[in-house]
Amino acid sequence: MSTPLRILAIPGSLRARSTNLLLLETAALLAAADMRLEIFAQLGDIPLFNPDRTDVPPAVAALRASVESADAVIISAPEYAHGLPGALKNALDWLVSGIELTGKPVALFNASARSVYAQAALREVLVTLGASFLDRACVTISLTADSRTPQQLAADPMIATPIATALDRLASIIAARTNSAANASQPTGRALPNWQPRPFPERRSFRGRYSAIEPLDTAKHAEALYASLCKPSGVSGFTYLPANPPADIEEWRIRLENHAAGRDPLFFTLFDESGNAAGICAYLRIAPEHGSIEIGHIHLSPELQQTRVATDIQYLLMRHAFEDLGYRRYEWKCDALNAPSRRAALRLGFRFEGIFLNAVVYKQRSRDTAWFSITDDEWPRVRRGFEAWLAPENFDAEGRQLHSLASLRAQN
Ligand SMILES: Cc1cc2nc3c(=O)[nH]c(=O)nc-3n(C[C@H](O)[C@H](O)[C@H](O)COP(=O)(O)O)c2cc1C
Repeated sequence: MSTPLRILAIPGSLRARSTNLLLLETAALLAAADMRLEIFAQLGDIPLFNPDRTDVPPAVAALRASVESADAVIISAPEYAHGLPGALKNALDWLVSGIELTGKPVALFNASARSVYAQAALREVLVTLGASFLDRACVTISLTADSRTPQQLAADPMIATPIATALDRLASIIAARTNSAANASQPTGRALPNWQPRPFPERRSFRGRYSAIEPLDTAKHAEALYASLCKPSGVSGFTYLPANPPADIEEWRIRLENHAAGRDPLFFTLFDESGNAAGICAYLRIAPEHGSIEIGHIHLSPELQQTRVATDIQYLLMRHAFEDLGYRRYEWKCDALNAPSRRAALRLGFRFEGIFLNAVVYKQRSRDTAWFSITDDEWPRVRRGFEAWLAPENFDAEGRQLHSLASLRAQN
């Protein structure tokens, strides 16, 4: 068996009953067999940093040695007056002149959801010290009012799952780096030795809790779609699409014929809870060789927008791509000025990746394109959020949500 990964866990609070220490102790219990968390207990012994000092106090030597020999560092710190605790900043100041943190993978754990300034400040300090900051392995779990022991917390799935996920991510990032260490000057991505191209999506139907999806069929759906999408009140639905509203149903039919004939984009008709064809969307940029696929050309009737049906549809198509087809990347992109689309992407669990400037010319105008994605390692959490949100008990008698999708995803 290979040597377990050594993770140095630094609590940023000196309190004996620190919740940040509690979080790290819980993480230590949850660490997989191939990982060992060692908690640094000497923060309070580190004297005030003074650049004039030439000696190395024992607690500083211990800190330097611990950081140097660790495969990664996790820091969990409270926020004091919108800043870092002095004891932690003091310890980090001692590392400024050294190289222990240079390139060291570092993640932040956080025991208080309110503590956002300290997290940002700590990230800035660590990046300045040359650490390799791992956003994907950071986690916030509110323990401010929790009096449980680490053992009790580790037995609670609401606590244990996000911690275990963060530790898994940490381990896989470290593993990827180790794989590429053979040629450290040219780092390469995580090895995928067994990778096989994924199947191309088929023209098929889906049925969800509230929604139904069918392959776009002009003969069957054109009329209903014309009524729901091309009526005067729906004109704004075309603003960010490549095409303008059709002049008449004939033009609409021809457009849909073209849509339905293609494999990429692969168009679907979307039905509302009463079974009316009320929208279309498509899989596109389908790259089986890379396991990457986009959902787009989304055009919903005003009545279908912001309904649980619309969310159910997104969930079904996402689930199919990740679970049935085995894709590893699911994309969403839109005109960077399309605020509702950007909000929808974030609500659905996509991560904002950035903006391509001057990416497209359409309708005689320039478009900057905003990109979003969900990756296969993020999918289980996104899926749990959808499952909890779509559950009938999350809706009142009028069909209004009791809890938001984002809040349920955060809890899962
Ligand atoms: C002096 C002091 C200042 C604080 N300032 C803030 C603050 O600005 N923002 C915040 O969210 N919490 C603030 N807190 C609350 C702590 O960050 C919070 O209680 C934290 O969970 C304590 O972590 P610990 O249990 O690991 O010691 C402050 C607490 C103290 C004692």
